[in-house]
Amino acid sequence: MSEQNIVMTVAAGGKLSGQIRVPGDKSISHRAVMLGSLAEGVTEIHGFLEGEDPVATLQAFRAMGVRIEGPDKGHVVVHGVGLRGLNRPPRPLYLGNSGTSMRLLAGLLAAQPFDSTLTGDDSLSGRPMRRVTEPLAAMGAHIETSPSGTPPLKIRGRQGLQGISYQMPVASAQLKSALLLAGLYAEGTTCVVEPGPSRDHTERMLQGFGYTVQREEDRVCLQGGGTLEAMHIEVPGDISSAAFFMVGAAISEGSEILLQNVGVNPTRTGVIEILRQMGADITLENERSAGAEPVADIRVRGARLRGTAIQPHQVPLAIDEFPALFVAAACAEGETVLSGAGELRVKESDRIQVMADGLLELGIDVRPTEDGIVIQGGEPSGGTVDSHGDHRVAMAFAMAGLCAASPIVVRDCANVRTSFPGFVEHAWRLGMNIKETAW
Ligand code: S3P
Repeated sequence: MSEQNIVMTVAAGGKLSGQIRVPGDKSISHRAVMLGSLAEGVTEIHGFLEGEDPVATLQAFRAMGVRIEGPDKGHVVVHGVGLRGLNRPPRPLYLGNSGTSMRLLAGLLAAQPFDSTLTGDDSLSGRPMRRVTEPLAAMGAHIETSPSGTPPLKIRGRQGLQGISYQMPVASAQLKSALLLAGLYAEGTTCVVEPGPSRDHTERMLQGFGYTVQREEDRVCLQGGGTLEAMHIEVPGDISSAAFFMVGAAISEGSEILLQNVGVNPTRTGVIEILRQMGADITLENERSAGAEPVADIRVRGARLRGTAIQPHQVPLAIDEFPALFVAAACAEGETVLSGAGELRVKESDRIQVMADGLLELGIDVRPTEDGIVIQGGEPSGGTVDSHGDHRVAMAFAMAGLCAASPIVVRDCANVRTSFPGFVEHAWRLGMNIKETAW
């Protein structure tokens, strides 16, 4: 965790206007470094997210002997070592706040011939890992967690994993990806069956690297023993970062913004669907593709939002956007009900409780439930809220200022830089009256 504490202060009211490019997609940046490292040849990445999370992944591969140049303004050059070319890291790999780094690396490292240990910050050290270690154990991996199933992960080097067919209990792209990465090394076929669609960047990128992945409805499979061929990757802007400004513009009358070059992979666009359901005015322009991923410019105009019922099947497609969506609901007319979202309790913070506490502090009538929340829309008052070190909670509450009656102070915001370095500058550029104070 970052030593320095940061507070963001947002003036009440205002509107957003103008156009920006948000930084690169976090999920795709992680995968680009991972697969680039495992490929034969040199992979060039443009638009890499220089946030702490993907940089933690990059450092982990450097520690395993991969030569990586950059990041330099989003440009990274990865000198791939091939699937069998990683070296034993000389010390535990510290992954900061990054669940994606830890879970995906668990799958990959379980298949290496050397031992390794994965650690993280306080938040990551409290997150559940058995969802990954148990199916990996069924493939033949040896991974030790803490007694409560959390990090550190102690991975015993091992060859000869066996492919399995695994029905995932949760729609988790991290779990799916961990098993597919282990499957690259396993004997036979590894199949993962999803209870609902989760983001599919791993599958798309593996195919980009020339690896065959078969998908049939909810089942994705690959055979062990192939090779990855280096490629050129353009990382699109992160829709999860764009989502804060989508909500900010949607809740403030008279706003109009254009978010350029945002990834609009259909496994990620739940936030657009839910905001439209609430009456938001969102249009996609200039739809095109960046390699394996669809991208577009997203135009958002302020509109009166109304509460909505968010269905469980919509949850995985907007899994990281709920803090922002809760703020939209707090500024909408009427009731918003979410269920089937128990996963939110095991993210970087317990996002149901932490958001409910903050919204209550802002005078909003909100009731957390076991797997969701009920929010009565209104006008948030001002006040001080605590993000509990959760980057997305911090940025969501900053947006609440746009529809609040008086200023909002958000505490514990240092982790914003895990996913969105330059958030405050981007917000400024769109006309927000926001400042950050370090102490
Ligand atoms: C991610 C998957 C999601 C998401 C996380 C990034 C990924 O987690 O919340 O921020 O890159 O695979 P789950 O797959 O566990 O839901």
